[in-house]
Amino acid sequence: MKIAIVTGASSGLGREFARQLVSEYPEVEQLWLIARRKDKLEDVAASLPRPAVCMALDLCDPMSFTAFQEKLLLEQPEVHLLVNDAGCGYLGNLGETDTALETRMIDLNLRALTAITNLTIPYIPRGGRIINVSSIASFCPNARMTVYSSTKAFVSHFTVGLGEELRKKGISVTAVCPGPMSTEFCDVGNITGNSPMFATLPYCDQVHVAHGTLLAAKYRHTFYTPTMFYKIFRLVAKLVPVKLMTKFTKT
Ligand SMILES: NC(=O)c1ccc[n+]([C@@H]2O[C@H](COP(=O)([O-])OP(=O)(O)OC[C@H]3O[C@@H](n4cnc5c(N)ncnc54)[C@H](OP(=O)(O)O)[C@@H]3O)[C@@H](O)[C@H]2O)c1
Repeated sequence: MKIAIVTGASSGLGREFARQLVSEYPEVEQLWLIARRKDKLEDVAASLPRPAVCMALDLCDPMSFTAFQEKLLLEQPEVHLLVNDAGCGYLGNLGETDTALETRMIDLNLRALTAITNLTIPYIPRGGRIINVSSIASFCPNARMTVYSSTKAFVSHFTVGLGEELRKKGISVTAVCPGPMSTEFCDVGNITGNSPMFATLPYCDQVHVAHGTLLAAKYRHTFYTPTMFYKIFRLVAKLVPVKLMTKFTKT
């Protein structure tokens, strides 16, 4: 069975990946959708042009990796596309925030992404693809979201290193670096109404971001940064010393 796996498929960008991926990858016969909220996953599954398996897993719980591994062992799928989308970001200065929320970003954005990728790679055939959702936050540190921007720097680094490891196997790895999007992310992370930076920046449309990312992965690009504004921002972040950049990128 040729499948695609999408983590974070219950809302926002992950839901858009699930909705759009079959039009770019028609060989996909089944989708595996992962998130905690089963009812939301089932709503998404009902709207898809292919059958979908809804896996209600809390990826911050390491037991979810065991459940995922058991499903892979049982089904022995060919994973043509893995989309690591699940992620969270919380606003606040370290020392004033909830430690459980700070470490949650590491558990979900790093540990889960690494575990799901490592468990899935043996099932990805030559020609397969991995998409990792990074962020413009990966371009330089963002004060007041220091842990979040550090996790996304990991995701971008991880993408390049893994792409090199998998090159000889014919598997490509693409990171997408969107700017802010109007999803549940900003409410969950206490960002809405509390971040002058988020209030100022131009927003990306998750429908376009998903479409552009699926195309970038199709052409096996390593990075995709949506919109000219953020492409220029990425270039500036490469040219300007990081300490100076960090003075202007406080969330
Ligand atoms: N929105 C932005 O401004 C923005 C900008 C750049 C990058 N991003 C990145 O884009 C990705 C998607 O975010 P989004 O904007 O679409 O936000 P979102 O709507 O909040 O989506 C997050 C997804 O992750 C899932 N998730 C959260 N915690 C989970 C857990 N413990 N276990 C399993 N799944 C979990 C959520 O589902 P459940 O709640 O059902 O578990 C949801 O499907 C994230 O990696 C985020 O860092 C977002």
